[in-house]
Amino acid sequence: MNDPNGMIQWQGQYHLFYQYNPYGSFHGTIHWGHAISPDLVYWKHLPVALAPTPGGPDEDGCWSGVAVDHDGVATIIYSGARGSIQRACLATSTDDDLVTWEKYPGNPIIPKPPAGIELVAYRDHAVWQEEGLWYQLMGAGIVGAGGTVLLYQSRDLRRWEYLYPLLVGDATQTVPVWTGTMWECPSFFQLRDKHVLIVSVWDNEQVYYPIYIVGTYANHRFTPERTARLDLGDYHFYAPQTMIDEQRRRVMFGWIREGRATETQHALGWSGVMSLPRELTLGDDDQLRITPVPELQSLRCTHRRITDQVINPTYRLKLPDLPANQVELIVEINLGDAKQVDMVVHAADDTAVQTQITYDCGTQRVVTDQQLISGVPAPEHDAYTGTLILTGDEPLRIHLFLDHSVVEVFVNGRVTLTNRNYGMQSGMLEIEFMTHGGQARLATLDAWAIDSIWSDAE
Ligand code: FRU
Repeated sequence: MNDPNGMIQWQGQYHLFYQYNPYGSFHGTIHWGHAISPDLVYWKHLPVALAPTPGGPDEDGCWSGVAVDHDGVATIIYSGARGSIQRACLATSTDDDLVTWEKYPGNPIIPKPPAGIELVAYRDHAVWQEEGLWYQLMGAGIVGAGGTVLLYQSRDLRRWEYLYPLLVGDATQTVPVWTGTMWECPSFFQLRDKHVLIVSVWDNEQVYYPIYIVGTYANHRFTPERTARLDLGDYHFYAPQTMIDEQRRRVMFGWIREGRATETQHALGWSGVMSLPRELTLGDDDQLRITPVPELQSLRCTHRRITDQVINPTYRLKLPDLPANQVELIVEINLGDAKQVDMVVHAADDTAVQTQITYDCGTQRVVTDQQLISGVPAPEHDAYTGTLILTGDEPLRIHLFLDHSVVEVFVNGRVTLTNRNYGMQSGMLEIEFMTHGGQARLATLDAWAIDSIWSDAE
């Protein structure tokens, strides 16, 4: 699997579609897989929702897209792939569980890109309604300029008028973050009094990372104000999509990519997983706040709590009834006069494979150290670090999910790091805290074994 698609809450159920190749654990002949959930936690697989139609505009793949409620009719807009081109296509469903989809006979609904601009590539969709009209962004890149999102308008979701690029990036700029030559998988939505544009950065057949741009949207023009990385885990978190649910929450899923060799993925027969659902809000500082949705607490089993321990220069604990590779941790550390604090998680007495999170108080950077992951040395990679400015006496708050090879870290609700760590063992949990120069205090540590989302029957 790759990208999450068509996220929508329909008659109370959450629907998550996703890019899926039924023929193997590699990218090709993309269909839309489909799962539903009452609560964003427990999922049930449904039959494949969209498959390529031989001779149709999607004969080589039903690529990424979104689902919207069109006057009570669930409607998908996706990219049909034929050879090396992708074109916007539409499908509708009239059954309650959105199991069967009918493709619009007039596909592709937008037969070609706008005239007069030379594009690097052109695919993926964000669709919303405003004052009775539909608007759509398509991901693209303008040759010689940078990534872009092209704005369209429609009355009926079928006939679209091209307006203009809503935003164009500059591929030559690297500060505050390099934004590539093409933008995939746009998502565009309001938070607070601002708008947020999320795109995934692409360049020269390579995928990089998602970014978010906070700005002001008025009169169908977007003025960007702040650009940042959406997740610091390098290429592991990609192509996220967001939805607004019935509680008016902005919920995001992303595709968690593999970090091991393609041959290994072929041999094992699976590749790619979905992230945990993350809720997005916007802080007063115009930084996103990203937190795991509270429904995930229903997976919590055995709980252990440790409070008020000095870290000088180490504090180590073993939690015998918790597994090292299926656990949720919430840790609060008062940094005191420490210059750096490390938290290292591994199976007891087995330090070969460990997950490490470091906060450097001087440079105010969070790091997951890939060098220490799986005991395999990896080249130094700056992308695994990012800035987290703690204000005043603000403690360091690490919320960590370790789920076999998947590592999802939420730091102070402001920074996330998604990573892979294939060797984590199931033995008893051991955690070590270390300071470098100075003393810190572990205020609280809550640890839970987490349950599987699959019932025994599956
Ligand atoms: C992003 C992406 C999208 C495309 C889809 C194809 O990972 O390349 O741009 O629609 O995947 O599977």
